Amino acid sequence: MNASEFKGKVALITGASRGIGRAIAIELAKNGASISINYNSNIKSAKETQNLVNEMGTKSIIFKANISKEKEVKRLIESTESKLGPIDLLVTNAGIAKLSKNPLELDYKVWKETMATNVDGTLLPIKEVLPGMMKRKFGRIVCITSVAGIGMRPNMITYGTSKAAVIALVRNLSSAVAPHVRINSVAPGLIETDMIESLDKKARKNIVENTPLQRIGQTQDIANTVSYLLSEKSDFTTGQTLVTDGGRVCLP
Ligand SMILES: NC(=O)c1ccc[n+]([C@@H]2O[C@H](COP(=O)([O-])OP(=O)(O)OC[C@H]3O[C@@H](n4cnc5c(N)ncnc54)[C@H](OP(=O)(O)O)[C@@H]3O)[C@@H](O)[C@H]2O)c1
Repeated sequence: MNASEFKGKVALITGASRGIGRAIAIELAKNGASISINYNSNIKSAKETQNLVNEMGTKSIIFKANISKEKEVKRLIESTESKLGPIDLLVTNAGIAKLSKNPLELDYKVWKETMATNVDGTLLPIKEVLPGMMKRKFGRIVCITSVAGIGMRPNMITYGTSKAAVIALVRNLSSAVAPHVRINSVAPGLIETDMIESLDKKARKNIVENTPLQRIGQTQDIANTVSYLLSEKSDFTTGQTLVTDGGRVCLP
């Protein structure tokens, strides 16, 4: 990637205080973008992300907003655009995964919270930035989904459904916003973040053994895929889901 690929561009990354979102923020800053770092509750981590982004020499802001709340998302977009300028690059990354030990429990409270964060939380920032992108005839959007939205995992019925909705949103929106706006999604496999901290050693070993590329994914792996989809290198790609999982989803 050209180190100035995103020079002069403004990027908003939702859920960028930790994990995958933080790695994306740093990667885009490294390639010249100004960065708006959204978080929900973890201001200490958000500030750490901002310090790391600032080391790349670009402008940045941090902004607290619950991504499932329309008014808060409006304020996030307004604040980003007034402080950094119009948003060129949007990464909808904020998400939650509340896995159930009993697959048939189908806890409705968890369902509503998951859909609000993962589905509404993807739609709302897109809805807010799209009019500006369409008017300026430029925009790149990447949504973080999951292999759970493609595969069959009994303990991920709710989470998988929310991530399948993200894939469908991206596919269906892509032709409506073309040709000046491109929108794609990235489906990570298991990535080393707080989200998978409950996995024990045995489960990890099992996953590595069943992954063709023989390791658990790192946040940088996803940041690299996102950066590619936001860059000119993917200029003939829209409406797609790029699986980044070490080859597991391809297994029968
Ligand atoms: N890790 C994996 O194995 C994996 C695999 C496939 C897909 N994914 C997806 O990748 C994305 C990032 O996951 P991760 O592993 O980096 O998660 P993580 O380490 O748990 O971080 C989640 C991030 O999302 C933010 N967030 C959560 N709810 C929010 C809300 N309502 N409003 C605004 N921000 C909110 C958090 O903010 P606070 O710090 O303020 O709480 C944090 O920045 C998610 O969409 C996840 O579903 C992850």
